[in-house]
Amino acid sequence: MLRTILLGPPGAGKGTQAVKIVEKYHIPHISTGDIFRENIKNGTDLGNRAKAYMDRGELVPDELVVEIATDRLTKADCKNGFLLDGFPRTIFQAEKLDEFLEGRGEKLDKVINIDVEKSALVKRITGRRVCKQCGAGYHIENIPPKKEGVCDNCGGELIQREDDTEETVLNRIDVYNKQTRPLAEYYEKSGIIANIDGNKDLEDVLADIVKALGD
Ligand code: AP5
Ligand code: MG
Ligand code: ZN
Repeated sequence: MLRTILLGPPGAGKGTQAVKIVEKYHIPHISTGDIFRENIKNGTDLGNRAKAYMDRGELVPDELVVEIATDRLTKADCKNGFLLDGFPRTIFQAEKLDEFLEGRGEKLDKVINIDVEKSALVKRITGRRVCKQCGAGYHIENIPPKKEGVCDNCGGELIQREDDTEETVLNRIDVYNKQTRPLAEYYEKSGIIANIDGNKDLEDVLADIVKALGD
């Protein structure tokens, strides 16, 4: 049983580490960003409403996000826990999540707060490539695929996320600092936060996270 959240700026490595964490703890990986991107791809109403905000690097309005996230948490696969990636992102969202869990007699076990220096964030985001087919993540320098532009896992085409331009990422970092960073203090008060240095190599970051979560 593990109910946990990954907190951290764009490019901190949330998605990359999430894949490893859910493998180890057998819990679902819930990324609100991935849910929105899936909806944009499928041209749903939700996707249409979220797209303009995401393209600018702004947050999607709280009401929309809270409903999607809490709805996802009612699914059967969350009964033994979950890993939230990119939600909550505002104090309002965090309060709504607490209320939702409380209503079910549940609470968060841990908040993993990954931080990385700004200059590294920009390099990570502009060099990120994702598989169009299976969603696997790469970096042109840090984690290159065996063959340029091609996914190691499935042979799919590697593409750039639409919001991964330098301009948009700088805005995303600002938005993070203003609206999401205060969450660290919010969770500090409940004593469940673990601060992780995300500047290290992938494996070292993962080891620090596992240490914080316990076996
Ligand atoms: P979202 O999809 O959550 O994006 P984000 O928070 O900006 O974070 P990223 O996915 O860009 O970074 P990451 O930390 O996952 O990094 P990754 O592991 O890929 O949100 C997108 C948008 O959706 C938001 O802007 C907003 O509009 C909307 N949204 C989503 N949730 C919302 C919410 N709750 N409320 C309101 N709006 C919401 O790593 C990045 C790169 O670095 C990769 O190339 C990777 O290979 C590389 N890398 C990772 N770790 C390392 C390492 N240790 N060393 C070297 N390279 C590394
Ligand atoms: Mg991500
Ligand atoms: Zn793939």
